Amino acid sequence: MSKIDLEKRWKYCNEKYSFRDTVTTSLFNEAKIKISSIYDLGCGKQSLREYFEQKNIKYIPVDKYSRSKDTIVVDFNKKEFPKKKVDCCLLLGVFEYIKGLQSFIDLIEKKTQKIIICSFCFLANKKTREATGWINHIYDEEVFLRKFKKFKAYKKVRVKNWVVFLMEKEVCNK
Ligand SMILES: C[S@@+](CC[C@H](N)C(=O)[O-])C[C@H]1O[C@@H](n2cnc3c(N)ncnc32)[C@H](O)[C@@H]1O
Repeated sequence: MSKIDLEKRWKYCNEKYSFRDTVTTSLFNEAKIKISSIYDLGCGKQSLREYFEQKNIKYIPVDKYSRSKDTIVVDFNKKEFPKKKVDCCLLLGVFEYIKGLQSFIDLIEKKTQKIIICSFCFLANKKTREATGWINHIYDEEVFLRKFKKFKAYKKVRVKNWVVFLMEKEVCNK
């Protein structure tokens, strides 16, 4: 898939990933941490907006394309990112497309005060990955998780090759 195709796909993004939403809400319910603000990074159709707003959580959509009046429009691949810190960062179906994945994750860790919920697809077929427009090819969960220095995944749900992780900030007692 060429770069132009991917841009077209994002611009008119009409994709819905119900299984990821279901897994995310169940993981979030298990977190048992008070969350008052959330960045949905690469928010797409904002399918979890209502879920979080019903819990009185300030939902802040972030995407390369405006999806609503309140979308913070940034391009992660140009190292743009919203300024403020939030309690939770949510990234579903986003890491696969990001250039400079390590520095993006470092930035997310800085901006997140409590938890990160994120997905990654570990499908081990590079050709299919490239055809989907993915630029990050990681096949091993441990390799992916080692990129997080301050957050630890303490719960996860796997659906085929997709894993959704719930990560909490590690408390340093030193
Ligand atoms: C596969 S969709 C996932 C949408 C949503 N998170 C979901 O799970 O339904 C990827 C989203 O990330 C956004 N995105 C892709 N590359 C981006 C970039 N470089 N900067 C900001 N957003 C980006 C796209 O516009 C799109 O909305």
